[in-house]
Amino acid sequence: MEIVTLENELLRQKAEPVKDINSDIQKTVEEMIEALHEGKGVGLAGPQVGLMKRIFVIHIEGDVPRVFINPSIIGTSQETVKFEEGCLSIPGIWADVVRPRAVQVQAWNEKGRRFNMEADGILARIILHEYDHLEGVLFIDRLSVPKRNRVLAKIEKRQKA
Ligand code: NI
Repeated sequence: MEIVTLENELLRQKAEPVKDINSDIQKTVEEMIEALHEGKGVGLAGPQVGLMKRIFVIHIEGDVPRVFINPSIIGTSQETVKFEEGCLSIPGIWADVVRPRAVQVQAWNEKGRRFNMEADGILARIILHEYDHLEGVLFIDRLSVPKRNRVLAKIEKRQKA
């Protein structure tokens, strides 16, 4: 699996629900986890590998890989926190993003089992970041306009170099 970057339009499209969690999906999930490890990231969503399905995987240090298929965000905390984010599809760019401190999510795992999860801290942040990918939203969209412009200028400069 190849991770696509910012200029790829797929990152701006909404992903489609998974209709059947079958062996093909299980294989896809395995490959996504491999791609996540290869990229040394903490989260990876379908559109980032050109797969327009509502799937993302998360693997943070000290935890097992977690699989989210057809996730829904049930609720988020009113309290927000600002924390630095990056994205495998926007290599080398890091910026502070404001997001809810906690999230409640419902999804299916690769075995077709539905689960509910309440997360806060880094896990909540990654869930919200990856969920955004399924909606065609990138973390740079959540920056203030001046900050986003600075980031975009930096990316452009790098592409020219
Ligand atoms: Ni990302």
